Amino acid sequence: MDISLTGIRPTGIPHLGNYLGMFRPALRLARDHEALCFVADLHALIDVRDPAAVAARTRELAAVWLAFGLDPASAALYRQSDVPEVCEAMWLLSCVASKGLLNRAHAYKAAVAANRAGGREPDSGVTVGLYAYPLLMAADILAPGADVVPVGRDQGQHVEIARELARAFNGVYGAVLRAPRAAVDPSVMTVPGLDGRKMSKSYGNAIAVFAGPDELRRSVMRIVTDSRPPEAPKDPEADTVFGLYREFAPAGDVRAMRARYEAGGLGYGEAKAALFEVLDEHLRAPRARFRELMADPGELDRVLAAGAARARELVAITVGRMRAAVGIA
Ligand code: TRP
Repeated sequence: MDISLTGIRPTGIPHLGNYLGMFRPALRLARDHEALCFVADLHALIDVRDPAAVAARTRELAAVWLAFGLDPASAALYRQSDVPEVCEAMWLLSCVASKGLLNRAHAYKAAVAANRAGGREPDSGVTVGLYAYPLLMAADILAPGADVVPVGRDQGQHVEIARELARAFNGVYGAVLRAPRAAVDPSVMTVPGLDGRKMSKSYGNAIAVFAGPDELRRSVMRIVTDSRPPEAPKDPEADTVFGLYREFAPAGDVRAMRARYEAGGLGYGEAKAALFEVLDEHLRAPRARFRELMADPGELDRVLAAGAARARELVAITVGRMRAAVGIA
């Protein structure tokens, strides 16, 4: 069976955009792949320097995965740092990686551009960790031999770099590494936030996934719409309420809602109420499960230990081959 792999950095409880863009595609792939899902705690160290926060957010994210329905009996859920061979693979890759490839990575280029604009040295404040981020990510992907990597558009370049590094390694040592493919789900490329811009924690326009019903209702009511009165026909494609509704409601309900937008006679208040209902229904069980898991650290630990054991089995095969290939077996 093909292997799908998803890593998510532990940066706080996700919002609806994260759910639609990362968790849901990964959970769908998990149905017909051997799924590896991990908490990228090593990647978090690039900007989270509070040890208690790293530990707490890592557990929280593991609970989020399970609350959204990842089945630990069929998928491996693990902490990146519990599979140390990945770091070894990173070094072996770094010895064939051209520095220019990393110079072109978006995050690094953005940091350099910001420094130039501010009149600072190009690499001012840039850690080697930030620079090498794509190398560690390539090791995450190549070491367990992933075939498919579901990612948002912003991570596409990183998967491309992993492919490039697989080619570079194989070019020197023969066919050792499998090149993965990125799976970008086009239907959820941009999830609109409360103000209509892309949903993002930094814009303050996000809907928290595990908010209680009252907070969820308040968020939905804050969604910005145009000022058309109820009787006026409305363009569903231009409206955030509809944009979110269609991600969660059954297809028949979405068609009916679209028709009501276009016919006129539907006020945005009513559309928001319908969105709240469907969201609350969808999120009620995960919300409860999340709270249960956070209250039971033993269960989380067991799941993470089993996941790491499975990931290490897979990683041992490829990293063993890499070691043999370079002459350090
Ligand atoms: N860079 C990814 C992000 O910020 C997280 C990540 C780390 C990842 N390693 C990965 C994603 C490997 C996919 C595969 O979202």
